[in-house]
Amino acid sequence: MIILGIESSCDETAAAVLKNGRELMGNVINTQIAIHSKYGGVVPELASRKHLENIYPVVNEALSQAGITLDMLDGLAVTQGPGLVGSLLIGLSFTKAISLVKGIPYVGVDHMAGHLLSIFLAEKKPEFPFIALVASGGHSSIFLAHSATSFKLLGRTRDDAAGEAFDKVAKLLGLPYPGGPEISKLAAEGNREAIAFPRSWLEKESLDFSFSGIKTSVANYVNQRRQNNKKLAVADICSSFQEAVVDVLVEKAVKAAKKSGIKEIVLAGGVAANPRLREHLRNRGADENLQIFIPEPEFCTDNAAMIALAGNYLFQAGRQTSALDTDVYSRSLFW
Ligand code: KG4
Ligand code: ZN
Repeated sequence: MIILGIESSCDETAAAVLKNGRELMGNVINTQIAIHSKYGGVVPELASRKHLENIYPVVNEALSQAGITLDMLDGLAVTQGPGLVGSLLIGLSFTKAISLVKGIPYVGVDHMAGHLLSIFLAEKKPEFPFIALVASGGHSSIFLAHSATSFKLLGRTRDDAAGEAFDKVAKLLGLPYPGGPEISKLAAEGNREAIAFPRSWLEKESLDFSFSGIKTSVANYVNQRRQNNKKLAVADICSSFQEAVVDVLVEKAVKAAKKSGIKEIVLAGGVAANPRLREHLRNRGADENLQIFIPEPEFCTDNAAMIALAGNYLFQAGRQTSALDTDVYSRSLFW
């Protein structure tokens, strides 16, 4: 079965061709970072316009990498939500057009499910059920994954997502968008114990997150130093901030595994590209006798390979359509 996956939920236009759920024949990601960075974040209207310009060449390039034409596809998979409505609509409408003209069925894929399942693109695969921590720019959630099509939400952020906190702290330090990669680069040269930023654990048994407090605490620290004309040790701030976020993400994921009696944890989403988060979760996994599974960094951030893969599972489960009235959704289906 050959599936074309299409992703356009935020600021990446991506297409991938996946054969039999295993062989990635084509994988193209066109990022709009250069366009949005001068505004310090994603401008939805600009994103939709760029998706519209990019989608045809990006899909064409993925097909040509795979050495196939549309006629050789068995199915289409497209991100249906959550994300920016205008951007999602470009991917979904493009998919519907191919479906109608070529008579190929499609499935709408949930972006979070795509991130969660991206681990099955890796060599070392987990077994269901497992705990999945999905941390991205829009969400920070812990799931119990029963199967490739059934997930239970165990915890989620009550305010900012982890990636959002990285992006906001980067902005207040004057670093470019997106902030996550910038902070992690600087953090590698800093001291993670330099500043004791608070960890927000919430209620004792809670698996929810809250990252707005740490963002405010970094802002207060930075403003105080600036007011007193004191130098900012940016690398130390980045490292100490990163450690506080990583600590909470890791401990809550470990707690979820222990509470559910599950021995495997999957880490996914853009923030999973963070080297310190990867390292700390692996270390804690070793301490607690838990197996840790993390996709390669290129499959942590937004891509269409994960959408094709999630689509493959949906087709296997018998879910497909050619309907033209399917709509996108902006908010997560999981709560
Ligand atoms: O999954 P993703 O590519 O898009 C969404 O679905 O949101 O995640 C993007 C987020 C951004 O907030 C970005 O700053 C963050 O992931 N990110 C990182 C790193 N690389 C990307 N955060 C921390 N460290 C990184 N190395
Ligand atoms: Zn994402």
